[in-house]
Amino acid sequence: MTDEKLVALAKEAMKNAYSPYSNFKVGAALLAKDGRVFTGCNVENASYGATNCAERTAIFKAVSEGCREFDAIAIVASSGDFISPCGICRQVLAEFMPDGKVILDSDEKGMVTYLVRELLPCSFTGKDIR
Ligand code: THU
Repeated sequence: MTDEKLVALAKEAMKNAYSPYSNFKVGAALLAKDGRVFTGCNVENASYGATNCAERTAIFKAVSEGCREFDAIAIVASSGDFISPCGICRQVLAEFMPDGKVILDSDEKGMVTYLVRELLPCSFTGKDIR
């Protein structure tokens, strides 16, 4: 699976975004270590706090299907510019893909990649709970 293909799958998933309140669509495509890809979109709610980001939709779909180990996630937004995962999503990414790669795409500037550990250094983890 190439980064370009993962971005294309994220763009496809973005079409399903349910975002009548922000009118901002986000799509994500998550590459599992076993080669499977799980996609997600943002799902908003009239009670705004109940909104789920595209990244967490993809991760929760995967985990609920029994898949817990991931290598990479591609994220795209309807603005056509890079968007970086929110703090809650970074924490969830750190839980399931601490060594993973985050691929951001933009229409005009192409792709950039980060590591999850760069986006959330010094994170709180399961090891901290004793
Ligand atoms: N959103 C995402 O889906 N992922 C992000 O990383 C940032 C924000 C969504 C949540 C909400 O539906 C909309 O974008 C505006 O915040």
